[in-house]
Amino acid sequence: MSIEYSKASQYFHLKTPSSSYVIAIKKGRYVEHVLWGSRIEEWSGNNDNLAIDRAFAPNPVEGERTFSLDTLSQECAFPGHGDFRVSTIEILMPDGTLVMEPLYAGHRIYAGKPKLEGLPATWTCDDDEADTLEIDLTDRLYGITITLSYTVWKDRDVIARSTRIANNGIKEVSIRKAMSACVDFADSDYRLLQLSGAHCRERGAITRDLFPGNQGIESRRGASSHQQNPFIALLRPGANETTGEVFGFSLVYSGNFSATVDVDQFNSARTMIGLNPHNFAWRLNPGTSFQTPEVVLSRSGSGLGELSRTLHRLFRDRLCRGVHQYKERPIVINSWEAIYFNFDEKKLLELADEASRLGVELFVLDDGWFGKRDSDTTSLGDWTPDRRKLPNGLRDFSQKIKAKNISFGLWVEPEMVSRNSELFRAHPDWPLQVPGRDFSFGRDQLVLDLSRQEVRDYLFDSLSEVFTEAEPDYVKWDMNRHMTEVYSSRLPSGGQQEVSHRYILGLYELLERLNTAFPNILFESCSGGGGRYDPGMLYYMPQTWASDNIDSLNRAHIQFGTSIVYPASTMSCHVSAAPNHQTGRITSLKSRGEIAMAGTFGYELDVTKIDDADKESIKRQIAKYREIRKTVLWGDLYRLQDPVDLETNAESPFAAWMHVSSDGKSAVVTAVRLQAWPNQAPLMLRLSGLDAQGYYFSTLDGMRYRGDELMSFGMKILFQVETEESVQFELKRVAR
Ligand code: GLA
Repeated sequence: MSIEYSKASQYFHLKTPSSSYVIAIKKGRYVEHVLWGSRIEEWSGNNDNLAIDRAFAPNPVEGERTFSLDTLSQECAFPGHGDFRVSTIEILMPDGTLVMEPLYAGHRIYAGKPKLEGLPATWTCDDDEADTLEIDLTDRLYGITITLSYTVWKDRDVIARSTRIANNGIKEVSIRKAMSACVDFADSDYRLLQLSGAHCRERGAITRDLFPGNQGIESRRGASSHQQNPFIALLRPGANETTGEVFGFSLVYSGNFSATVDVDQFNSARTMIGLNPHNFAWRLNPGTSFQTPEVVLSRSGSGLGELSRTLHRLFRDRLCRGVHQYKERPIVINSWEAIYFNFDEKKLLELADEASRLGVELFVLDDGWFGKRDSDTTSLGDWTPDRRKLPNGLRDFSQKIKAKNISFGLWVEPEMVSRNSELFRAHPDWPLQVPGRDFSFGRDQLVLDLSRQEVRDYLFDSLSEVFTEAEPDYVKWDMNRHMTEVYSSRLPSGGQQEVSHRYILGLYELLERLNTAFPNILFESCSGGGGRYDPGMLYYMPQTWASDNIDSLNRAHIQFGTSIVYPASTMSCHVSAAPNHQTGRITSLKSRGEIAMAGTFGYELDVTKIDDADKESIKRQIAKYREIRKTVLWGDLYRLQDPVDLETNAESPFAAWMHVSSDGKSAVVTAVRLQAWPNQAPLMLRLSGLDAQGYYFSTLDGMRYRGDELMSFGMKILFQVETEESVQFELKRVAR
């Protein structure tokens, strides 16, 4: 059992391979967070030696002046009984206050992991993999029970936490805040790492020291967002890629979230992540319960790199699902940046023809194939093919593509409706809108109210028709604006603050239905690039378009930040045209290819318009990617040179990473020169993840090296000043 319970001393010891997490029941009533750190075999059962009588620290037990909830580290904190720090759960009680006192009422420990009803979550294959602890806390006055759930994996340094709130009383209450987890760190000597940015600049890794008071990140946009990713980590000073202690919090959710660290007067750091309390409230009727999303807690004692690999394995093995989970992902040509809206069937077939000749495996027809969509101002919602462009319909077109020995993929943006569409004319009340107020538009489109069953049914039916007709092997599911006027006509005024969360629950329900009905489709999630790149979406769609920015040097940054949490198999990367459409920068085809090979690979340019030399290069790139694909998608990632220093946030002129195959027999190393200087010093690259005693043949220089030399001394990487922004080579294990 990875969960030990001491009845005599009233504590739980959760053990992962290298971490311990201890929870104690204090005075038979309070659920105390004792520690989370490197693995210990036994806990003494004592942490009272610092209890003192402090002024202005209220005492819930009369006469016990050394005991206060304001100084107790807690697993779940509530307002009203003396803990003045930020609360984990807030419920408006029938008496009109937020005061509540949920006390320990029992617990269960069992093998396996339960499903979270209606929500994406990590899973177990069989009950031997993990154990689950559930602790109940009950507020006796109103019959509210809070259940804290912890699943502990036996062979992963991961604990999955979530919280359930049940109303077993006789009166309705209103949940105002429901975070998924709270960890009270005993001190605040950490740096906070977050993945922040914007559209086309997603997931930039930045760190900052913790300071007294509340700090954190959030999304209020109705999606997890380009601006902040639902992930934070706390790093001990000096922690970097390979050393030091790191604690990660990754929320399995795709909507509004918040992640905060509250450093209190005694320097404890209360860290929480969950649904954003902004514009959130949930009516909880007697006999009903509310389930929070799951948060994945992970800890590494040897740097951020190890934390990332733990998350990568978990997300690859126990979050992604379906027939594509371990299937080699196809090499794509996507029509968007190749031809945008300017196409007819002839042009599409020419593009597919040429791509197929080059070795591309999947042709994706992006935006513009439906309704009368010649620009982004119209037709979203009308999921019928535009006969001007596809005169014989989707099935005929899809068959023509497949006849070219290339599979067929299709773009959809189902959550949206254009004002200029048949759907809007038929159902003007279907978008989110506040009665009496004007709509706000984004890309000239409106957001359908996915909290409504009839809207979801329409989408399921119309998409099912498209998928049945076109038989796509792949579907790109886009979402290109954020939510405004968040109001659902199906809910009373008292339920309007439920809409953002109900929307996400509705989206998950729709995706589950489509996954079940079309199990063979490979779904890729997208939201203007990486605006909804989160573990919630990965449960339904095993890959995500990482960014609308395909400038390869920018991409090196974006992919670096992405890789802190998300595995290569989830990260969709394409080679763009030169000059690049986002930045106007010209980079070599070689570097564009090498940088895009860090994830699932493809092209997004008009290959009918390039010269023969470039076509030959693309053929070679495709052959190369086929050779390294398994290593990249299913191997281990080692970040060798961060483009941004994790301690100082200073930019480096280089970035480098390597993927090591799961059998250790080969590796691919990629180094990128982000800033070009003539007469530049070489990049000294110390490799990682190799067998110190093993021998490796390097395709860079045709030499044979021992692993220890490559990892301790490293290799000198020189860039050809005019032509090279990247260097890529393989290492192949050889006999001595
Ligand atoms: C979004 C996506 C792009 C492309 C366009 C089509 O911006 O991120 O990849 O699909 O929509 O309109």
